[in-house]
Amino acid sequence: MPRALITGITGQDGSYLAEFLLGKGYQVTGLRRRSSTRNLHRIEHLSGLSLVEGDLTDLSSLVRVLEQTQPDEVYNLAAQSFVGSSWQQPLATSDITGLGVLRLLEAIRTVNPRIRFYQASSSEMFGKAQTVPQHEGTPFYPRSPYGVAKLFGHWITVNYRESYGIFACSGILFNHESPRRGLEFVTRKISDGVARIKLGLARQLRLGNLEARRDWGFAGDYVEAMWLMLQQPEPKDYVIATGETHTVREFVELAFAHVGLDWRDHVVVDPALFRPAEVDLLVGDASRARRELGWRPRVDFPTLVAMMVDADLERLRGGHRAGDGPGYGDVPTEGGPAPGGPTDGGPDATGDTGDDGRRMPHRDDAGREGGAPGRGPG
Ligand SMILES: NC(=O)c1ccc[n+]([C@@H]2O[C@H](COP(=O)([O-])OP(=O)(O)OC[C@H]3O[C@@H](n4cnc5c(N)ncnc54)[C@H](OP(=O)(O)O)[C@@H]3O)[C@@H](O)[C@H]2O)c1
Repeated sequence: MPRALITGITGQDGSYLAEFLLGKGYQVTGLRRRSSTRNLHRIEHLSGLSLVEGDLTDLSSLVRVLEQTQPDEVYNLAAQSFVGSSWQQPLATSDITGLGVLRLLEAIRTVNPRIRFYQASSSEMFGKAQTVPQHEGTPFYPRSPYGVAKLFGHWITVNYRESYGIFACSGILFNHESPRRGLEFVTRKISDGVARIKLGLARQLRLGNLEARRDWGFAGDYVEAMWLMLQQPEPKDYVIATGETHTVREFVELAFAHVGLDWRDHVVVDPALFRPAEVDLLVGDASRARRELGWRPRVDFPTLVAMMVDADLERLRGGHRAGDGPGYGDVPTEGGPAPGGPTDGGPDATGDTGDDGRRMPHRDDAGREGGAPGRGPG
């Protein structure tokens, strides 16, 4: 049975990738950092998942985890992943999102250089895009501390592949969303806001730049590409994208229309939510992935928008779908993992198991605490 270690297991992609690899018969371990609050809602439904404690800022923990779990494949999804926060915390972002990659590669080189390694790189590395669409050969020009940190992670991955022969791949993923997207990212802020307005829980939705454009896909489709990269005869870097671009305004229009509302009655544009430096037209050319991996996205843009709004409506009405998280103002419940959920991964296990706006949590018009900077589309 192949063994995989996933960092960033509590995040959106970590949960979809764990589901995917468990379905392929992998023994999956997730690395999670210590947290004073419960953040396991995306993975509580997964049976057979083990968890170990570690942190990308702590090399010794990474070495220990690799020694304990002996993975064949490591997927590095952990990051300070929110572009907005990278202006607030540029040093922490560089340490986790940039240097964290190097620490993990050093741990792999030390413990077992035959481990296959996936690095979660980002379209934000293209930033002030030098060509449209962007492909693997497009020059990088990051426009945020997050993008700069990701670029370091990308190049150190390439460098360890070329210097030490490690099977290391960098997946340059364009934005991918889902009902499990963090609430600070604009797509989820919109789907949650629309559901709240539809249910009479809020009246307004405050957003930043409605004209910002992104290439948005479905996270569940994108994790398959990560796995495919590590199954190839040679390690390479791949752009993963839909090749379509849409504005935030289009997302908003579709989301409100899906519940029979007119967005113009509810959306307020707040210039304070604009990014200090916006990226240019990010749209990916994934033809290498199509050709060599046989990968293509399955969920289209209108389906993605509808899926996210429906999930938020269901959650706010009191339903709960496996892997979907709490929303604004929802209080995570205490207690251990759900029956059949993740288990201890060994002596160090704990026993339980974007890319966007910039402001700190605020109160929305209904007075709830929210974590929705909404500064740009992520
Ligand atoms: N989603 C996208 O559109 C997109 C596009 C391109 C690239 N990416 C990259 O793909 C990866 C996955 O994205 P995502 O959307 O799943 O992000 P996410 O939901 O924000 O998840 C990030 C994960 O990293 C963990 N983490 C943060 N700091 C850590 C540290 N010091 N040590 C260990 N774990 C740490 C977080 O743990 P906590 O729960 O403890 O915070 C969380 O599990 C990220 O690297 C992101 O930058 C994402």
